[in-house]
Amino acid sequence: MHRVYRPRNYLEIGVNDGRSLALSRVPSIAVDPAFKVVTSISCDVHLVKQTSDAFFARKDPLLHLRTGRNPFRALARRDPLRALGGDPRLELAFIDGMHLFEFALRDFMNIEKHARWSSVIVLDDMMPRNVDEAARDRHTGAWTGDVYKVAEVLRRFRPDLLVAEVDTTPTGVVAVFGADPSNTVLTQKYDAIIEEYVTEDPQDVPDEILTRKRAVAPEALLGAGFWPALIRARNLNRPRSAFTDLRRQIERVTG
Ligand SMILES: C[S@@+](CC[C@H](N)C(=O)[O-])C[C@H]1O[C@@H](n2cnc3c(N)ncnc32)[C@H](O)[C@@H]1O
Repeated sequence: MHRVYRPRNYLEIGVNDGRSLALSRVPSIAVDPAFKVVTSISCDVHLVKQTSDAFFARKDPLLHLRTGRNPFRALARRDPLRALGGDPRLELAFIDGMHLFEFALRDFMNIEKHARWSSVIVLDDMMPRNVDEAARDRHTGAWTGDVYKVAEVLRRFRPDLLVAEVDTTPTGVVAVFGADPSNTVLTQKYDAIIEEYVTEDPQDVPDEILTRKRAVAPEALLGAGFWPALIRARNLNRPRSAFTDLRRQIERVTG
């Protein structure tokens, strides 16, 4: 995704030893209350030792992207208004923190507030291989928890988004296109959603998740023809109306 989508900034929730953060080459923010980075990192990163909820509660969580060595700073030099209060938008975000549905949903909601329609938000561990792996109360080595429910909630409450399941090893990811920071549906319905979707173990994992029926092969998604158009629209800051045509192009690959 880094190579194909070429984001100009990156946010990661859940860093652990830094293996996924090692893929970033652009100004990044990485959040984890208990990171233990042992991997060589090749980006200008603000490593935040906090939970993602605490991080997003900050007054200016993306400060690093505004003031660090990054493209926004160059823009700010040319545009004093930006220098005073530039509003960097996240381009690629990876949600891989606490593996409980409500945490991952909040991560998505908080990230979307700082994204644009042309951003890509990826959630990890969205396709547990069995019901044990999907338990809220962890009792397996590999653990997805019940974060897979986020995809179902987004499809149901946010049909404006494009939610694509991707058949990665071992536990699948979901890529979300078409973020809309002005949409308040999830915030308004948050309490009702939690009430309905946070359920006791064992979790009733749908067959389509376990069999990965809807999932697209990662090579097919990354090799698809829509990326250059998405990147162009992102870099030129095209309005949201441009998503309609791009959505059709993405759906040709994701179904
Ligand atoms: C699966 S690991 C991340 C792996 C990493 N993204 C990678 O692929 O190399 C999950 C991490 O989430 C962190 N975590 C747990 N609760 C969190 C929270 N509330 N906010 C942010 N990170 C959290 C844990 O400390 C753990 O290091």
